[in-house]
Amino acid sequence: MREFLREIAMANYIVLGAGRLGGTLARRLAELGHDVHVIVPKPDDAKYQELASLEHITLASSGSPNRTSDAMFVATPWEATESALSDLDLAVGQIVVDCTNPVSYGATGMTLAIDANTSAAELMQGWLPAAKVVKTLNQVGSDILGDPAALSPPPMMGLASDDDDAKSAVSALLNDLGFDAFDAGGLQNAHLLEAFALLWMSQAFSTGDPGGFAFGKAARR
Ligand SMILES: NC(=O)c1ccc[n+]([C@@H]2O[C@H](COP(=O)([O-])OP(=O)(O)OC[C@H]3O[C@@H](n4cnc5c(N)ncnc54)[C@H](OP(=O)(O)O)[C@@H]3O)[C@@H](O)[C@H]2O)c1
Repeated sequence: MREFLREIAMANYIVLGAGRLGGTLARRLAELGHDVHVIVPKPDDAKYQELASLEHITLASSGSPNRTSDAMFVATPWEATESALSDLDLAVGQIVVDCTNPVSYGATGMTLAIDANTSAAELMQGWLPAAKVVKTLNQVGSDILGDPAALSPPPMMGLASDDDDAKSAVSALLNDLGFDAFDAGGLQNAHLLEAFALLWMSQAFSTGDPGGFAFGKAARR
């Protein structure tokens, strides 16, 4: 068990989407003692009942009233994301953590679903101008998010945002979750983190054990 260097302040988080990524993230946040409000289209669906039974986790539907939160994590399929966000009435200054990768899957495999000159995070900031968008948690698979401490050195996880306070708060949480957080710069660099995710996928899936591979930081001896 990793020993934390600082005491973790309990927070309230919203997680939008509870599939492989959102469900795993909600569990990890709740394990750290945070209160987690999960939003999915049909919270009564049998597939969400185990998650709903966990301590610190509540589930609600997409159109349900919003709560104030320390951060909202977006973990929806890219094609559902703009519509899912349009259902929400977010507070001014809300930290919104974009965990998506803007890809689609077709006959030729996985392709980028947006113009390569922008990023999902910058588009999201445009949809939510009053929010503080932070790009992160998109760069490894949910198996690794479930247990980053299984890998050594800790998996790197970059974050990009135009708001330094939001970036600092999310960076601390990433370290609590077991990642080696690094500052990738402003939101104009979010496309680098989205490309980094594609590089991780190409490498990790070729090993046959995607849960066993992540990029880690080398340092001078
Ligand atoms: N899976 C990974 O390891 C991983 C890693 C990094 C990044 N990502 C990114 O994370 C995002 C989610 O991926 P995933 O693999 O977790 O997808 P997933 O397993 O298909 O789960 C998607 C979740 O989003 C929910 N959802 C769909 N429309 C919604 C809406 N309008 N409002 C609220 N929730 C909605 C789904 O609900 P229903 O199923 O009930 O419709 C489901 O709970 C994607 O953008 C992906 O690129 C995934």
